[in-house]
Formats: sequence, C-alpha cells, structure tokens
Amino acid sequence: MSKIIIIANRLPVSITINKGEVELKPSAGGLATGLKSLHTDKEIVWLGWPGISTEDPELQNEITKKLGEMKMHPVFIPAEQFEKYYDGFSNETLWPLFHYFQQYTIYQTTYWMAYKEVNHIFMEALVNIADKHDIFWVHDYHLMLVPNLIRKKFRKASIGFFLHIPFPSYELFRTLPWRDELLQGIIGANLIGFHTYDYVRHFMSAVSRILHLDHHFLGRISLNDRIVEVDSFPMGIDYNKYANAVEEEETKIEIERYKRTVGNEKIILAIDRLDYSKALPKRLKAFDRFLELNPDYKGKISMVVILVPSRASVKQYQDLKDEIDLSVGKINGKYGTSTWTPIHYYYRAFRFSRLIAWYHIAPIALVTPFRDGMNLVSKEYIATKKDGKGVLILSEMAGSAKELTTALQVNPNSTADIVRAMHEALNMPEEEQVRRNRFMQSIIKRNNIDNWAKNFLERMEVVQKESELLY
Ligand code: G6P
Repeated sequence: MSKIIIIANRLPVSITINKGEVELKPSAGGLATGLKSLHTDKEIVWLGWPGISTEDPELQNEITKKLGEMKMHPVFIPAEQFEKYYDGFSNETLWPLFHYFQQYTIYQTTYWMAYKEVNHIFMEALVNIADKHDIFWVHDYHLMLVPNLIRKKFRKASIGFFLHIPFPSYELFRTLPWRDELLQGIIGANLIGFHTYDYVRHFMSAVSRILHLDHHFLGRISLNDRIVEVDSFPMGIDYNKYANAVEEEETKIEIERYKRTVGNEKIILAIDRLDYSKALPKRLKAFDRFLELNPDYKGKISMVVILVPSRASVKQYQDLKDEIDLSVGKINGKYGTSTWTPIHYYYRAFRFSRLIAWYHIAPIALVTPFRDGMNLVSKEYIATKKDGKGVLILSEMAGSAKELTTALQVNPNSTADIVRAMHEALNMPEEEQVRRNRFMQSIIKRNNIDNWAKNFLERMEVVQKESELLY
C-alpha cells in the first residue's frame, strides 16, 4: 500500500535537549494539525529537520526512535551546513526576496551551495523510506529543489509542491543568479500550489520567461513526458478548534485574568512572529500617531503586542527586535501614566488557551504585514468571534485579504490609512461588525485546513491519473 510522505523543513515536533534528556515540543504549525485530521486510508509519514543538529550517533538513534513512534523521520544536517542553508539561503536570500525586501537579500554562492547540498541530504533521507508508488508532498521555500530530485529517482511518481510564502513578481525573481535551477527544481512536481492566483501568475510568468516553457492560461505547463499543473489553494485553519476554544474552561480562566489586567480598556491586538515582513514598527507608529491625533482615547484603549521569537540568529531579526523594544519604550514613556500603559508587550510564544483569550478579549485586531503568503492569525481571530463582534484591520498585501474581503483593508505602508481604520474600527456599529464577520466566518469555515489538504491531495491524484493516460 502506498503512503503519503510529507517533506518539510520543520517537522510537527521539534527536539530540544533538556538536562541531557531528549524532549519533544510541538511546532504549532497549521500544516501539522490539518494533516492530523485528514481522512485517508493511506498512511501519512513525515520527513524533516528535527530542530537540532547533532553528529553524535547515539543521540541520532535516540531521536530517530522517538520520532519514529510518531511516524516522523528526522533529517540530520551538520550545523555549519545547516546555518548556510537555513539562516543563509532560505532566510537571507529567498525569504527577503520573496517578501519584496530586495535590500535585505544576500546573493552568495556559498549559501546556494549549502542549499543544494541540504536539498540532496533530504533526498538521501527520503530514499531510505520511500517507494516509487508513494505520494510525495514537498513544502515550502527551503526545499524547492527536492521535487525534481524525486522526479529523477522515481520518474512516474506523484509529486506535489506547495509554497507557503508569496511567489514574487518576475522582476524580483529574475535577480536570483540561480533562478533556472530553482524553477527546474519546482517543476519536478506534477502539482504546484500557491495561496493565491497572483502568486500563480507570477510563477507562470517566471516559468515562461526564464525556462521558455509554454503554458496554458488555465495553469498547465507543457512538458514532453508529463503534466504539470499549477493552481491556488488558499490554506485555512482548523476552524472548529478555534471557534470552540473560547468555551473551554482553561480559556475562560485566562479570559477573566486578562480582563482584570486591562479593565475597561479596548484592546488593539497585534500578534505575529517577529519578522520584518510583518511591519511591526509601522503598526506601532500608527498607534502612536492615533494617540497624537485622538488624545481623548488616552487611557481608554491599549495595544497588546505579542511577538513570537523567530530566526533570532539572523541579523535582520536581531536589529528588528532592538527597533521594536525601543519604539515600545518610547511610546509608553511618551503617553503612559501611573494608571495606564499604552502598549503591553510580550516577546515569547503563548500557549493556545492564552492566545484564544487575547483574541476573545480584543475588539480590534491589527494585522498589517508588508507582505504575507497567507497570514493565519487573521483567520484565527475571526474564527474565535463566536458572537460575531470584533473588527479585523487587515493588510491588502496578506494572502488572506483575497478571502477576507469584509475586513477593514488597508495599505500597510500608509500610516494615515491605518490610523483611519483604527478610528473606524473603534466606532463601527456592532451590527456591522457582525455582518462583516459572519461573512468571513463562512469562508474560513469552508476553506478550512482539512479541505485544503484534501483538495490538494485529490488534485494530485487527478493529475497523476491524467498523466498516466496521456504518457
Ligand atoms: C513561515 C514559513 C514556514 C516556517 C514558519 C516559521 O510560515 O512559511 O515554512 O516554518 O514561517 O519559521 P521557522 O523558520 O521558524 O520554521
């Protein structure tokens, strides 16, 4: 019986060593939760980096055994190589460029070499567990060469690739000296998925201009020996999990606790990974400007900023953290009183019940990234609003803006636009809030994570069957 192999840089759990003991921590990715509830008669196994680098064979065995019990297979990568592949090519080349931060993009051959090597290491690990009849689903920008490596080994295999970040305009993508190899790597797959049609268009344009391959406007690339289909599959969340969490005892306790802390202040909530693509300094600036222009609101509103530490070994992320620390301090120093703190700032990951409690308490969520492949926070916030009340201020540049059309959408580069939206949000009649949110809830509920995974895998099956008939 064939199995489904999910190949991603990060496994659904991360290994840490605590006082010499191997510990497993769940990585709270949407992908892991979604695939857990997938109904299929096929076995699902994972292949990915376990969260640490070790060359100690005993430790590697122990990790392999522990993960094996959960049908996960680790890919061990030597530390130095990992740094150049992950911090380097993935997060200092591809991530900034694909998020339109060309000024942060480092074009460095040693990074590229390590990226290629690590993609090969993934392939070697894959060969140990795979069979040609398996279904291969490769994820994200860390592993763009893997689809074609699988294709070379298993010529007729069913291979899917999904990119979780934006695919940039051709004008940016073409600046990469390794653009051909990257595209060749991806089109090893026979189904390629993106969050939005815009990313599909950008990808198709890069394929035709760089690889000179013809394509149908319907999203098919013509190759001599197989079909490659490209389409948009907007990723969702586990809707019911978020919608029902508000009623759980643990969440209720947290809600009461936070209510006591914030009193009658109306909360504007900003939750994200600490990343420059998320435009956090801009959100803080908008809040500052709002208070400047609307002094009546002083003491009546406050901002809760929860930043989840991320990629802290990359310099841009360290600099950004310093910038945010400074900015929060300045704003609190400028407006704060003995009884009112304008910004409550947390730099850590929050457990699920606490996140839900903040979503629930906040009448406004400010989600205004400069660029975001999808942005699941915006969907989670709306899903938790059982009574339909609450306002989402959402960046036009987030993938989720394509679905969440009744959010207050803003251009994240315009402080004035965000300030205006804050004012509108604070004054929006409840009835309008409910109308907007019910619409978005219906979409988030329908396009949930189970359906996303199911649709993608079903499409892989269709494409594979058509390929078999044609070639
Ligand atoms: C984005 C990427 C994921 C990545 C996540 C967290 O959502 O698309 O592939 O896992 O960020 O980043 P990290 O570098 O910690 O894995």
